[in-house]
Amino acid sequence: MAKYSSALPNGLIALDGESRTPLYRQLYDSLRRAILAGQLAPGTRLQSTRETAEELNVSRNTVVNAYEQLLAEGYLEGQVGSGTYVSRALPEDLLNVKVLTRSLTRAGGKGLGLSERGKVFAAFAPGIPRAPEQVRPFQPGVPALDAFPLDTWSKLLARHWRRPADTLLGYGEPQGHAPLRRAVSSYLGLSRAVRCTPEQVVIVDGAQMAFDLTARVLLDPGDAAWMEEPGYPGARAAFRAAGARLVHVPVDAEGLDVTAGAALEPRARLIYVTPSHQFPLGMTMSLPRRLALLDWASRAGAWVVEDDFDSEYRYEGRPLASLQGLDTDGRVVYVGTFSKVLFPSLRLGYLVVPNSLVAAFVAARAMAGRHSPSIEQAVLTDFIDEGHFGRHIRRMRTLYRERQTILVESLKEEAGDLIEAEPSAAGIHLVAWLRDGLDDREVSREALARGVEARPMSAFYAGSPGRGGVELGYAAYNEEKIRRGAARLAEAVRASASARRANTRRRAV
Ligand SMILES: Cc1ncc(COP(=O)(O)O)c(C=O)c1O
Repeated sequence: MAKYSSALPNGLIALDGESRTPLYRQLYDSLRRAILAGQLAPGTRLQSTRETAEELNVSRNTVVNAYEQLLAEGYLEGQVGSGTYVSRALPEDLLNVKVLTRSLTRAGGKGLGLSERGKVFAAFAPGIPRAPEQVRPFQPGVPALDAFPLDTWSKLLARHWRRPADTLLGYGEPQGHAPLRRAVSSYLGLSRAVRCTPEQVVIVDGAQMAFDLTARVLLDPGDAAWMEEPGYPGARAAFRAAGARLVHVPVDAEGLDVTAGAALEPRARLIYVTPSHQFPLGMTMSLPRRLALLDWASRAGAWVVEDDFDSEYRYEGRPLASLQGLDTDGRVVYVGTFSKVLFPSLRLGYLVVPNSLVAAFVAARAMAGRHSPSIEQAVLTDFIDEGHFGRHIRRMRTLYRERQTILVESLKEEAGDLIEAEPSAAGIHLVAWLRDGLDDREVSREALARGVEARPMSAFYAGSPGRGGVELGYAAYNEEKIRRGAARLAEAVRASASARRANTRRRAV
């Protein structure tokens, strides 16, 4: 029996009206990728060209062209117009070419000689995000690349390259360039009330590496880890990939609910939190909760991972002190990143670990690729020590507050009846909540078809969210892009709302 694909594979079809690649080619690429990754299994019947065209808001010809190309190349079988199926014998099979993602997804890694750990990684393969073809509204997590002081950065870079010290070209220190560790330690002491010495700082390739190392150093397979619900998928994936048993603990207006966590899993070995700015909802963990969490962790002998990913950007009140600064028992592993304050491809971040853990973390960091690139670490040190870092953060705080205001206003103007977007006190994204019970995955698909990214809130929940919403990053986009993006998002929301009304009517008949 044929399996039907009632809808397009979730999130896989991303068409960009502004790209130079023709739409039919973009659709062809997305479908081919989904077929090879096993997300559209052999024998699956595709939606009709009419339904697909409607769903993606493109002309029927665009879809016919894409389907015909896939038919001609053997990825699909049947006939456009009277039923098109994913081929049972794929061209790569015929050519005897192994496509790694497909074989991994299909077999769940079985029979490939993978370790148990390797099989867990294989299961993650299809979900690993690919680099987008362009940075476009409202992709979150990206700072203002248009306002980065490139001149200053390139001068500092040129200075090091003109006469590089031997020590910067040879193998470097696994724990990180010592002057950078000193700069990070004093910056954290002053601005985040982190209590540490440079000897506790370990430089890593961004926060993601920090989570991976933490999981490997502190967790055994099967150990329980509390994660925030909703929470950051990158951290969940790292702990899960290390074999941890994730326990999803709800957050409320005061942050992680410690009492609920204790009831769900009293033997947790590790707790992951974003106390300064809960990801993705944005609240701040209250002082009583922070104290309760540290107290619980001390008594249970659990580790607390504090992810302080974007706390430099706070628009109301004074910057908040870190959880680490309140810890008197050496339970907190503090994680920070330069991805949001500078730029993500720099791949530099840091861990601050209790003294007792330093040796194990440094060894784990060395195993994972010796050390981060030395010249970039040296440039970053100068950037901090010469005052550019502080200046850049101050300028960006003003710019991001403006951009956030423009986004909130334009959403109100364009779709205030269907979207509820409140200003956020911190960070570089906000959550726009959907009214009238709209499905956020559906809105996200409609938005993508119009060249706008709007990540569905349901993607951050292990269970089901109470209400639909979308995550919108605003820091990287100028006023014109934000206004245009908001108008397109409004169109997407209206399209979802009218599809929903039509469905309700159909059911009622
Ligand atoms: C909550 C949170 N933590 C950590 C990161 C990771 O940053 P990176 O691995 O780029 O340092 C992100 C990135 O979006 C994030 O949203």
